[in-house]
Amino acid sequence: MRQIELLGIVGIVMLATSATPTNAQHVTNMPSGQQLFQDHCATCHGTDGTGHGPMAEILKVPPADLTQIGARAGGAFPAARVAEIIRYGGDIAGHGTAAMPVWGMVFSGEGGGGKVGGAYSRRAVIELKDYLETMQKKAP
Ligand code: HEC
Repeated sequence: MRQIELLGIVGIVMLATSATPTNAQHVTNMPSGQQLFQDHCATCHGTDGTGHGPMAEILKVPPADLTQIGARAGGAFPAARVAEIIRYGGDIAGHGTAAMPVWGMVFSGEGGGGKVGGAYSRRAVIELKDYLETMQKKAP
């Protein structure tokens, strides 16, 4: 009887510890923000982010110049808003139009599925947001 109880306890402890890695932020196959940008964003926003990618011509709404996000916002880089736009698209973030795609879904798919905002998707958005911050031109 006692042994069965012990087994039960061991089982519960094992369950609890094996659940931890899935909650942890271990994303090993994450490309750099620059790589993500070239792969997913440059077609519209251009390799330099200024909005002159090959797809720009056929879009009704011109892709934003991403080197001017900070300047347009009055100097400071609006990190949280940028992350929202990348994750949910321009429309849902209440800024701009649905011409800016929703990347949260794409990234969660690349990360092996799971919800938008899963570990891979979250990291991809952060990497991209940080990369965009590095491409900001200083206001003249
Ligand atoms: C299919 C073309 C297309 C692709 C691909 C695309 N975008 Fe956009 N993006 C746009 C358009 C168009 C706008 C402007 C929307 C508007 O003004 O209504 C925009 C706007 C933005 C904005 C808002 C800028 C501001 O100051 O308001 C950010 C940030 C942005 N894109 C980031 C990205 C990132 C990061 C990627 C890659 C993950 C990406 N975009 C891929 C078309 C695209």
